[in-house]
Amino acid sequence: MINAKLLQLVVDASNDGIVVAEQEGDDNILIYVNKAFERLTGYSNDEILYQDCRFLQKEDRDQPGLRAIRDAVKSGEPCRHILRNYRKDGSMFWNELSITPVYNEADQLTYFIGIQKDVTEQVQAQQRVEELERELLELRKQLANRAD
Ligand SMILES: Cc1cc2nc3c(=O)[nH]c(=O)nc-3n(C[C@H](O)[C@H](O)[C@H](O)COP(=O)(O)O)c2cc1C
Repeated sequence: MINAKLLQLVVDASNDGIVVAEQEGDDNILIYVNKAFERLTGYSNDEILYQDCRFLQKEDRDQPGLRAIRDAVKSGEPCRHILRNYRKDGSMFWNELSITPVYNEADQLTYFIGIQKDVTEQVQAQQRVEELERELLELRKQLANRAD
């Protein structure tokens, strides 16, 4: 079995954010965040521990993935969704968030592990493709009209 110190080293070397949260009432409060999470969000560990991660959404709470995340967390199911999140300096990034419940040997839900991946470039590229597809469709329509 890997020892705790090596595990910490490995988790801190990850390029993606890794956090552990513990259920407390309706919240899941952060009890561990790795270095990549601090780099990604601009918040340091001591500024955010014991808070629920929803602070990363700021006022942008009307997002399609949020209800699904809420339902999955409530029922102790894993989930993966892309959300708009905001760094400490207010800049937005697209966060591909994967949440997995962790059960102990007695099959009780004890913690959640969350992995945060910055997918801003991919989402922006996809948005650009969709925009260009719309423009192409419009141009094709105009050409077809001229040909008539
Ligand atoms: C382990 C874990 C990590 C999470 N990480 C994030 C995150 O990085 N960004 C985010 O916007 N929400 C994150 N969430 C989701 C929020 O904590 C919360 O579950 C979500 O906003 C839906 O619930 P609410 O509508 O009560 O806010 C995480 C949740 C868990 C359990």
